[in-house]
Order: sequence, then C-alpha cells, then structure tokens
Amino acid sequence: MDAKTYIIKTFGCQMNEHDTQKIGGVLGGLGFEPARFEEEADFILFNTCTVREKAHQKAFSAIGRTVAKKRPISLIAVCGCMAQEEGAKLLSRFPEIDIIFGPDQIYRLPELLKTRNETGRPAIATELINSQEDYHFLDSVPAMRFHGPTAYVTIMKGCNSHCSYCIVPKVRGTEVYRPWRDIVREVQYLVEKGCREVTLLGQNVNSYGTGAEDGVRFGKLIRLISDNTDVERIRFTSPHPKDVDCDLIEEYATNPKLCSHIHLPLQSGSDMVLRRMRRAYNRKTYRAKIEKLRKVRPSIAISTDMIVGFCGETEAEFQSTLDFLQEIRFDYIYAFKYSPRPDTEAHQFPDDVPPGVKEKRLSELFTLQAKISHEINQSYVGRTEAVLVEGEDKLGKGRSQGRTETNKIANFSGNDVPIGVIVNVEIKKANANSLEGILCQKSR
Ligand code: SAH
Ligand code: SF4
Ligand code: F3S
Repeated sequence: MDAKTYIIKTFGCQMNEHDTQKIGGVLGGLGFEPARFEEEADFILFNTCTVREKAHQKAFSAIGRTVAKKRPISLIAVCGCMAQEEGAKLLSRFPEIDIIFGPDQIYRLPELLKTRNETGRPAIATELINSQEDYHFLDSVPAMRFHGPTAYVTIMKGCNSHCSYCIVPKVRGTEVYRPWRDIVREVQYLVEKGCREVTLLGQNVNSYGTGAEDGVRFGKLIRLISDNTDVERIRFTSPHPKDVDCDLIEEYATNPKLCSHIHLPLQSGSDMVLRRMRRAYNRKTYRAKIEKLRKVRPSIAISTDMIVGFCGETEAEFQSTLDFLQEIRFDYIYAFKYSPRPDTEAHQFPDDVPPGVKEKRLSELFTLQAKISHEINQSYVGRTEAVLVEGEDKLGKGRSQGRTETNKIANFSGNDVPIGVIVNVEIKKANANSLEGILCQKSR
C-alpha cells in the first residue's frame, strides 16, 4: 500500500514555519510522506496565525475553501495560534474538522490521530503548557530530513510581556526556556548535516534564562553555542528592546559568529504611544541601546516592526514616529495597521484612528523607509561582502543567491557555486530590498 500523505498550509511568523517543520517530522515518524497537491493529500493541516484580524480571517477562508471540497477519506487538522484561540468553537463553524491542537500540543499529534481514527470523533488538545518540567521541545527535524545551509532552532516558548495590543501571550502562554545543552546538541547535530547558520527562535529570545538557576542568560547561551559547536553564523529573532543587556552587547563586541544584524521591534517612535502600548522603553532608552550596539559593531544592520494607528494615535504622535525613523535609520522595517485583538488590554480602548488614516500613515511610513533602505543599500556598492549561498536567484538569470552577514539578500553572477559555501561578493548595484554583485573568489 502507498504511504499516507500530508500537506501543511502555514500562516504567520517564523515560529509557525518552524512548528510546521516539527509537525512534518512527527508525521514522518508515523510513516506519512509530503503530498505534492492538496487534492491528493490524505491529511491536510492548517498551521494558523491570529496576530491581526486579517491573519485570522485568512486562515478561516482557507479552511472554508478546503472543507467545501473535502474528500471523505481525507482528514483535516487546524493547529497554531488561531486554533489555540478558538479551540472547540471551530467545530460549530466547520464540523468537518477532525483534529484541533495548539502550539504546545504538537508532540501529542500521534495520539490525537489515533483517537480520531478509533472514535471517529474530533480530537482536541489546546492546553497551554507553561512549566519547564512538562514542556516538550521537539528537535526540528529527524535525521534524514534536514538539508540546507540554514536552520531555525527553538530556544524558548511563550512570552511574559504584556504589550497592550498583543494576543501572542494568550495563545502561546508564558515563557519556558529550553535547556542550553539541548540547544547546543541540536545546533551541532544540524552542523553535522551541513548547516552553517542557525537562527535562534522565540517570542522574546533575549529574556532567555530569566531566573534560571544555572545563570545561563541569552548572551551566555550565544557564547555556549559558539564555543561548543562548529556553526559559523548565529542569528536570532525576536529580541525585546527592554532585554538588550550588557551580555548581549558584549557578544556583539567580541563574537565573530554572531551576525551583524538585529531585528529590534520598536512599534512606535512616540513616547506616549509606547506607554499606552506598555512596551517598557522609550525613545531615549531605545536610542541608547542602538548607540551601544553601533559602537561595538559599527557595521550592524538594524531592522524593526512598527504599528501605525494604535488607539488614540494623533498626527503629532505619528510625526514622532517618522522623525525617529529618520533618526535611527533602520535597514528595513515590517509595518502593520493596528488591529484590535480579543482579550487584550487595548481591546477596551477605542480603535479610533479611521481606516483611511491608518492606510495613509502606513504608506507614508513605507515611502520614507524605502528611501532610507535604498540609501543604506547604496552604501554597499563597491564593498566586498561575505555571502552564504542559499540557492538560485529567484528571478532565474543563472545567478546565485545568498545573504550577507547583515541579512541582506545578495544575487550574484555564477551559478556553479555550491549551496552552503560562504563566498566573497563584490557589490555592484543596490535595490530597495536586495543587492547585486559579482563573485570575487571562493573565500572558504
Ligand atoms: N514577539 C515579537 C513579535 C510579535 S508579533 C516581538 O515582540 O517583537 C510580530 C509583530 O506583529 C509585532 O512586532 C507587532 O509589530 C505586530 N503586531 C502584534 N500585535 C498587533 C496588533 N494587534 N495589530 C497590529 N500589529 C500587531
Ligand atoms: Fe507580543 Fe509584546 Fe510579547 Fe512581542 S513582546 S509577543 S509584541 S506581548
Ligand atoms: Fe501569528 Fe502566532 Fe506567530 S499569532 S505571529 S503565528 S506566534
């Protein structure tokens, strides 16, 4: 008999992308193989997001389209953050769903499938697991499956912050830190399979180890990974500005494996808005941390997340955001219109910035940022950058594509360079979101 096949539709952030890899690993262990098309899959999973209303709706519509054409023999599961939020309520809208499980319950998927098959009734598991003893951190991918030069590695789960707009703590629970020895072991294992760069993942990575008895906080963790594995590049996402401390700055000062990039979500450039958002920093303290980072690592690229049109955001407050963007000069930003989320503190405040104004502010922000990004990228022209080759240029053209240490996409001539090699590329041209260049010589 042919093996059963599955397909996973993934929405949301890197955490979800990585969870999808883990789910693939769990299903592989049960003898499932990836399907090429939804139409032929025996098991269809939706790994959902609910960070903004739009993400929530997107998952709902996708599920709706699939259940409308569900084949009697196939199974449907909904997992991820929207599944965590909605739980069993999803069944009243989509009775065709067979399994619902939250982000903390991935390890129980085999048991849920068994229950569903034995009882013929939906199986549901949406408990959050908030203690170190009970949490199951899964290694990303079982032995045969991992390939490629880069990989995600989970270092923690959950978030203990209380940003007033954010639903993540509700759907991902509180922080649990993965033991550092397990992290080091997984990184070294990935390296042995050909990985050269890892991205450490968590909702608030730099609160890693808060209160831990062994004293291993985030800076120390990076050091332990550098000293005890052969990985060549280390990245992480996302840190919180309030937890950027001396240990982390020290790593940027002294650790060449730590890439010259930090994604440091700012959200707003107005102190009043930041206070309403409960972000626990202001322009002054944020600026001070950026200055320290740039002092110890002048080449560091800095990117950020922004929200426009938060409750009560005035024109003057938005102007402060534009001014601050000009002052800091981020390499790139992700920006979103504020979207009220159920059971968050801000849900009680009026969502009083009209949709048209949110739209206008978002586009103003993007216009300003496009100019800054282009100027920064322009300053790379003529420089030689170390690029880790990840594959072919997405536009074809027979070129290769990789990333600089500063996380910029670089396309360059010559498609005979093997994936996973770090090469020197002379940058010849800058675009808003990428660089173009020519291969100098193989550096390693
Ligand atoms: N833990 C990360 C990312 C959280 S979600 C961090 O704090 O940096 C990713 C981004 O989505 C946030 O940085 C924020 O910019 C945005 N976001 C979160 N909740 C939102 C909401 N209710 N409306 C609009 N954007 C939101
Ligand atoms: Fe949400 Fe704030 Fe936690 Fe980020 S730090 S996940 S924005 S609550
Ligand atoms: Fe979305 Fe959950 Fe990530 S809400 S942004 S998938 S943590």
